Amino acid sequence: MSVAIVTGASSGLGRELARIVAQSHSKVVLTGRNVDQLNQTATELRKENPRVEAIIAQADLADRNDLGRLLQQLDQHGPIQTVVLNAGGGPFGKFAETDPETLIECLNLNITANVRIVRHLLPTMLQHARSSGKTAKIYFISSHASFMRVPHFAVYGAAKSFLTRLAQTLRLELVGEPIDIRIAFPGAMATQFGARAGIPRMISEPANPAGIAKKILGSQSRDIVPAFMDVAISIVDKVLPSSALDFVVRRTQQRFLKENSTK
Ligand SMILES: NC(=O)c1ccc[n+]([C@@H]2O[C@H](COP(=O)([O-])OP(=O)(O)OC[C@H]3O[C@@H](n4cnc5c(N)ncnc54)[C@H](OP(=O)(O)O)[C@@H]3O)[C@@H](O)[C@H]2O)c1
Repeated sequence: MSVAIVTGASSGLGRELARIVAQSHSKVVLTGRNVDQLNQTATELRKENPRVEAIIAQADLADRNDLGRLLQQLDQHGPIQTVVLNAGGGPFGKFAETDPETLIECLNLNITANVRIVRHLLPTMLQHARSSGKTAKIYFISSHASFMRVPHFAVYGAAKSFLTRLAQTLRLELVGEPIDIRIAFPGAMATQFGARAGIPRMISEPANPAGIAKKILGSQSRDIVPAFMDVAISIVDKVLPSSALDFVVRRTQQRFLKENSTK
């Protein structure tokens, strides 16, 4: 029996990732808050893969008690081979004008929940991978926002940078171990992300999450940048001096805010 967990599987990229993961696992645990949408994902998975066991684990990952309950629930499913840390999001707006509790929720969802999930699952995953000889995988769904400073998305962008750095560092701690850590850096996608964040319009044409999910799970790279534009952003971030980067970000942001002038 091979078990996978996909967080944020109730919509968008997570649903598409879960559909692909279901093709190669016998059990997939789907997490999210919206049970109706999780049921939709589970139904699609079962229809496409009649032998897969799709299990719904409802939890608000920003809530400490819910998260604790989820971790206990995960223990019932035996060793997990694939973890997809996809749930995420955050509020769009000026830092000084955003409700502080909303900012903390963003940290809880994008940072604390992922730290706790990985810390909870990793020892058993390691033990099982060592004894079975099968490499386990952890996918961190970061963002192109983790490459650079993102005004109006300061806490979300910084949280994704944390996630990226955590994954990169875990890789080093796990050198020689049968655990494969992958980091994905998607850019704008046509999901509920923008509406939830409060962005009326994305800056670039959003990509189809099904295509992005395919690229992420089909990639042989450990760092996966699914869109060409984001490869360019990652390079610009590395080569430009800080002040030049500020200039480029400010210009892009001005255009973005103009397009979203209803905000
Ligand atoms: N769309 C983009 O433009 C974009 C760009 C770069 C990176 N990303 C990243 O891609 C990942 C997937 O996002 P998406 O674009 O597919 O957005 P989405 O459609 O809004 O999906 C977000 C998922 O996360 C779950 N989630 C959100 N808050 C949660 C909470 N408090 N507790 C538990 N689950 C929660 C949602 O489930 P429930 O609603 O059921 O709770 C949903 O399944 C995220 O990590 C996002 O940061 C997105």
